[in-house]
Amino acid sequence: MERLQKVIQKAGICSRRKAEELISLGKVKVNGTVVTEMGIQVDTSDEVSVNGEKLKSEQLVYYVLNKPSGYVSTTSDNFNRRTILDLIPVKERIFPIGRLDYDTSGVLLLTNDGEFMNALIHPKFKVEKEYHVKIKGLLRKDESSRLTKGVDLGDFTTSPAKVFDVEYDDDKVNTLVKVIIHEGKYHQIKRMFDEIGHPVLKLRRHRFGIVTTEGIKQGDYRLLKPHEIKQLWNLSRYGK
Ligand code: URA
Repeated sequence: MERLQKVIQKAGICSRRKAEELISLGKVKVNGTVVTEMGIQVDTSDEVSVNGEKLKSEQLVYYVLNKPSGYVSTTSDNFNRRTILDLIPVKERIFPIGRLDYDTSGVLLLTNDGEFMNALIHPKFKVEKEYHVKIKGLLRKDESSRLTKGVDLGDFTTSPAKVFDVEYDDDKVNTLVKVIIHEGKYHQIKRMFDEIGHPVLKLRRHRFGIVTTEGIKQGDYRLLKPHEIKQLWNLSRYGK
């Protein structure tokens, strides 16, 4: 027996929180009867439907995509731009774990396991994300130390970042730099560099936790290995 919201989440429809919302809105039926009470227990013999559609129990899948720039990380786009699902045409209903901007490339994890996704995007989740960044202008030491101390972005102050491998390009007009953060606020890297006066020209996420794009060509993807899934769970605060 399992709680109704968890069964919906596990079917890959949505997060547990969203499932609770759907239940309270009367969108969920168990064996043909609308259920608005939270936390009822169901088992595999119960027929659950959400918005009139029967839940199928899908196998849980976990992928890593090496996202090229020029794709949105959502599963559909109002402006008809290419989405990551054009690159990863699998039969399961998968969702990205966090987002990368349209013009950002690199590691993007995708899954139909809502619990795994929630654990990894929870604000308290301290997984490291390593970005390789090309910025306009020459990064000075005092500027990079603003990032390593934490920079005030108005609505929040970033946690201390690690900044390393600073290289100036041939013409000495731009800087290549590697940055590790463990937060994942909207446009965080771009906002951090904007704040110190060096707009981002190119951004690639090299690593998410223990997963990198190594061996995966841009636009390609692979299944995560069982030990990688386990290690990611271990990194999360809901770790198993
Ligand atoms: N920070 C950004 O600004 N953009 C991304 O896509 C990821 C991190």
